[in-house]
Amino acid sequence: MTDPVAAGDRGAPLAPLRVLLLGGHGRLGSAIAARLAAQAPGGAHIELLAPRRHELALDPDAPADTAARWFAHWRPEVVVNCIALTDVDRCEREPGAARQLNAALPGALAREAAAGGARLIHFSTDYVFDGALRRPYREDDAPNPLSVYGATKLDGDRAIADSGCRHWIFRISWLYGAPRRNVSAMLLERAGAGRTLRLANDRLGVPNPVQLVAREVADCIARDAAIAGAAGLAPSGLYHLSARGATSWYDFGVAFVREAIRAGRLAAQRAPHLEGFAEAALARPAKRPQYSALDPSRYEATFGRAMPGWEEAISLAL
Ligand SMILES: NC(=O)c1ccc[n+]([C@@H]2O[C@H](COP(=O)([O-])OP(=O)(O)OC[C@H]3O[C@@H](n4cnc5c(N)ncnc54)[C@H](OP(=O)(O)O)[C@@H]3O)[C@@H](O)[C@H]2O)c1
Repeated sequence: MTDPVAAGDRGAPLAPLRVLLLGGHGRLGSAIAARLAAQAPGGAHIELLAPRRHELALDPDAPADTAARWFAHWRPEVVVNCIALTDVDRCEREPGAARQLNAALPGALAREAAAGGARLIHFSTDYVFDGALRRPYREDDAPNPLSVYGATKLDGDRAIADSGCRHWIFRISWLYGAPRRNVSAMLLERAGAGRTLRLANDRLGVPNPVQLVAREVADCIARDAAIAGAAGLAPSGLYHLSARGATSWYDFGVAFVREAIRAGRLAAQRAPHLEGFAEAALARPAKRPQYSALDPSRYEATFGRAMPGWEEAISLAL
């Protein structure tokens, strides 16, 4: 439980910061919830609210009413939004649903945050880029999404920026490290012995453990809880929050299996056999960028952090 009265950096008693975590039971959301629950970061005090889907009763056709209801009910000072339609191929088949969850809902949350003086923390995606650049993308590089997912996420980013609310949009890429529905979970599966897993080797990006993103987000919230007002905090804006470097899913898989064996998380005899393949040959509904590494320099400089290389970051997921 949180202590309702605590001394922060400003020396005066502080009530706990009310943080509403939306999508707190998904891949990234669960990691953020775990990190916030585990740490009393920097001595800051946080009251974490992580409602389940049935408590949220999200009406995708009425995002503005939904957001207004959530703000009235939970009265958050910080909202961390992990809700999204993240199945990229499903977004092509259901563009209306993608638009409501990935664009209209963040816009509605931002307008409520602006009206109530709350901060919105939101997650964008490397899929806003077309991959033509072939060097790590910076925040001021022009987006050109190839998919409904990328386009609707970009509209969400723009709606938040236009709202004037206090916000940090963290653009992230290629998550792993969650217990289910991701590459590392597949690699660690106990039934892995003798299996052959095929991983794409023709697309480059940055794999990021959810634990790394969660750690960074929790630290940002901790500083928010410990400092009065906006003074001393990073300005609102868009930041690429990513490990450094670039690789393919195949090369990541090889490195991850090697590290998992070294860390004792995977017995060598149970390790799957990995095979690279050209994903471009698959006829999938959504196009993915062939290159989508993100450059975290602005995030590092503004938040005073140093991001690890993608190989070094693997240990956070083991
Ligand atoms: N995964 C990646 O590789 C990746 C890469 C770049 C950016 N991102 C961004 O990172 C953020 C988090 O992604 P993620 O991979 O953690 O997503 P995820 O695992 O698919 O989680 C999405 C969350 O949204 C919730 N949700 C979806 N539809 C809902 C509805 N109608 N009502 C209530 N809740 C609903 C889900 O609830 P349930 O738990 O109840 O299903 C889940 O908690 C997203 O903004 C995504 O665009 C992800």
